[in-house]
Amino acid sequence: MLKEKIESIKKRATDEFLGAGESQKLYEAKVKFLGKQGEFSQVMKEMGKIPKEERPQFGKMVNEIKIELEQVYKDQESQIRKKELDQKIETDFLDLSLPGPTAGQGGAHPLSLVTSEIVKILGRIGFSVRLGPLIESDRYNFEALNIPADHPARDMQDTFYVDDQHVLRTHTSPVQIRTMESENPPIRIVAPGPVFRKDHDASHSPNFNQIEGLLIDKEVSMADLKGTITFFVQEFFGKGLKTRFRPSFFPFTEPSAEVDCQCPVCKGKGCQLCSQTGWIEIGGSGLVHPNVLQASGIDPERYQGYAFGFGIERMAIIKYGIDDIRILAENDLRFLGQFKL
Ligand code: DAH
Repeated sequence: MLKEKIESIKKRATDEFLGAGESQKLYEAKVKFLGKQGEFSQVMKEMGKIPKEERPQFGKMVNEIKIELEQVYKDQESQIRKKELDQKIETDFLDLSLPGPTAGQGGAHPLSLVTSEIVKILGRIGFSVRLGPLIESDRYNFEALNIPADHPARDMQDTFYVDDQHVLRTHTSPVQIRTMESENPPIRIVAPGPVFRKDHDASHSPNFNQIEGLLIDKEVSMADLKGTITFFVQEFFGKGLKTRFRPSFFPFTEPSAEVDCQCPVCKGKGCQLCSQTGWIEIGGSGLVHPNVLQASGIDPERYQGYAFGFGIERMAIIKYGIDDIRILAENDLRFLGQFKL
């Protein structure tokens, strides 16, 4: 009796497994025959009815049938899976022409753009880049630049002291000394980078950027300085813009001059950016003071030179017509996004 029942389960289960055309049907058939409450389990419960001596043999047979059925199920399952996957690949439409998700593309900061443009322009007339440390010794930042300890010119630059002998450099001019000490003339370098001063208000930041220029050669005059800067201004701000030199004082240059360029926004007519003057100051310049040459191991009788130092933030706001210098440090993407290359 029991044997027939099992044979019948085997036959019907095999039929249903093989007849199931999709995984849901196959799963249902598995639950029906092989599940915990399935027909197979029900029959097993009746094992007790069988005489003791026949049980081992019967058990063996039942087991074999179960293993056979499980194999049939497994084979069928993998066939159905494969079939369903093939169907899915055929019917699911993948539109390869749809644009992919975009990660917002970054760009260089306007200060970096301005710096590299300045470096490129001056590079075309032979200047190459030198860099110096941001923590600078008193000697390089002041002393060798002809600014002795008790000189009133130290008041021009409110300094962050790291210790007695070291400061956060207040300008890029120390790179002049470092270069003259380690290289022989002719020298033609620019030194861009951050500088630090202890002042902070609407028009002054404790941390800003400068670019220093230095040329050392024989028979260098103010005319060379003027020519170079006039060329630079026209390349950087626009052809036709005039350059103006105003007498000034810096301890490390003699003579010294402040450099103004005609306002690129109003072309000299007067506007808000240039405070109606038509001119904008971009930095200082002059002929390298003999004391500075000497302090750096260069003979002032044989060599002369000119130097200049410009504010990079100033140049950026002039070039792009930005009305507030602070926005350059705010990292507002709406602002920065306008400078993508
Ligand atoms: N180092 C000066 C400053 O930060 C700027 C400067 C003026 C640099 C004249 C120069 C120069 O090289 O010749 O105020």
